[in-house]
Formats: sequence, structure tokens, C-alpha cells
Amino acid sequence: MGDALSSSTPAAVPAHIAIIMDGNGRWAQRRGLSRSEGHRAGTRAAKAVVIRARELGVRHLTLYTFSRENWSRPKEEVGLIFDLLVEYMKGELQNLLDQDIRLRVLGDFDGLPFIARQSLSHVMGKTENCRAMTLNLALNYSGREEILRACRNLVAKGVKPEDVTDQAFAAELYTAGQPDPDLIIRTSGELRLSNYLLFQAAYAEFYFTDTLWPDFDAGELDRALAEYQGRQRRFGKTGEQVTG
Ligand code: IPE
Ligand code: IPE
Ligand code: MG
Repeated sequence: MGDALSSSTPAAVPAHIAIIMDGNGRWAQRRGLSRSEGHRAGTRAAKAVVIRARELGVRHLTLYTFSRENWSRPKEEVGLIFDLLVEYMKGELQNLLDQDIRLRVLGDFDGLPFIARQSLSHVMGKTENCRAMTLNLALNYSGREEILRACRNLVAKGVKPEDVTDQAFAAELYTAGQPDPDLIIRTSGELRLSNYLLFQAAYAEFYFTDTLWPDFDAGELDRALAEYQGRQRRFGKTGEQVTG
């Protein structure tokens, strides 16, 4: 919170990029593969994008990995997604440490399968002092639930109505202490937010691409950034005010 609203010039590199990694299923279907293969390929794309974001100097990267609504998928698919997550944690811990990347989870952590909680806790603990980039995985995440949870926290703390400010509210979100996303990317041609970062997206720039997530790579991230850098962010001002 705050950063995005206080600066009107687009930073060369967004401080926070949030991605809706969509299209794994369709990618697999087009190849005659199972949806599982699509998710596996999606994990490879995620690894490449983490590396590229870190190289570019992005300080916060958030990946929509599993929404609260995704529990309604077939049990086998859900199981496979969490198996891949655990595999990713095992395989990537050393790479995250080497790249000085801190792992965080946004979402209802306690509602995750035990094995996922265990491996995530391990990696979060090991990487907690890493500072080059924060990698947030939105897991069991719902933007509305996050907002309601913040309300409940404020009420439980007995905060007075006049003290419910932007800042006080943002401090109760999963993203507390992190800037709002400057850029939200969604792959696979879908033009919706799907309950992602509803509060934090207030002044984000949006980038949509038809590329399916498993095909999204470093070059695609560079293209999204180039487009972002050509945008004029106004935050309510006139174009003249912004260009000075
Ligand atoms: C995104 O790909 C991954 C998750 C939601 C976990 P999808 O699995 O939604 O792929 P499509 O949208 O069916 O192609
Ligand atoms: C959003 O994708 C969630 C993730 C990428 C994890 P979905 O594929 O679940 O979104 P909808 O259902 O098409 O809106
Ligand atoms: Mg989808």
C-alpha cells in the first residue's frame, strides 16, 4: 500500500508484479496431454519467470497458484497441484537461497493440506532473511475473503471507525508491508480478475495476453514490462500534471 498511490511516474521496473497464471489445462488439451501435464509445464514456466523477474530487479512477485474456488476442481487435479507444489519447494529451496529470494504465502494457510503446509513453512523459514525479491504464492486465496478477514481483525482489535484508514486496513491484508501491484498480468486470453488482489489492484496497470501460461517465458515477461513502461499512470491527475 502507499507506494503506488504516492508516485505518479512509472518506475523503470515495477516494484510489484502480480500474475494470474492461467491456461495450463488448455495448453495440455491442445497437445492431447492430461491436465496434469499442463500443470507440470506451468511449473516450469513459473521457475523461468521467477528468475527473470529477479534479474530485472522486481522486488515483489506474486503468483496466483491456487484460488479458494479451485477446490471445486476434481480431487485428482487438486491433489496433483499440491504434489507439484511440494516438489517445487524441494527442488527450488537452494535456488531461492542462491538468488536471495524470500518466499511468502498469501491466503488461508491453515486450510492447505498438511504436507503443503509443512514444505512451505520449511522454505519460508529458510528464506526469511532473503532480501533481493519477495516471491508471494497466492494459495487457497480469495480477495473477498482477504478483505472480510481484514474487517474481522480490525473489529476484533476494537479499532474505532475513524481509525479504519487505508493504511490500517492494508496492514491487515496478507500483503501487509508490501507495495500494491504496479502491474497485473493474466495469460490465456481471459479478461477477468477471478477474485485476485481486489483491494490492492486499485491502481494497477493490466496486461492481458493470449499466450497460455506454460508458454509464458522470460521474453514474454520482457514484453509485458515494455508495454507497462509505455503507459502513463495518472492516479487521478490530468495527463499534463503527470508529464509536468
Ligand atoms: C491455471 O490453469 C492453473 C490453475 C488454476 C491452478 P488452468 O488449470 O485454469 O487452465 P485452463 O484455464 O483450464 O486452461
Ligand atoms: C485463476 O484461474 C486462479 C489461478 C490462476 C490459480 P482460474 O482458471 O481458476 O480462473 P477462472 O475460473 O477461469 O475465472
Ligand atoms: Mg483457468
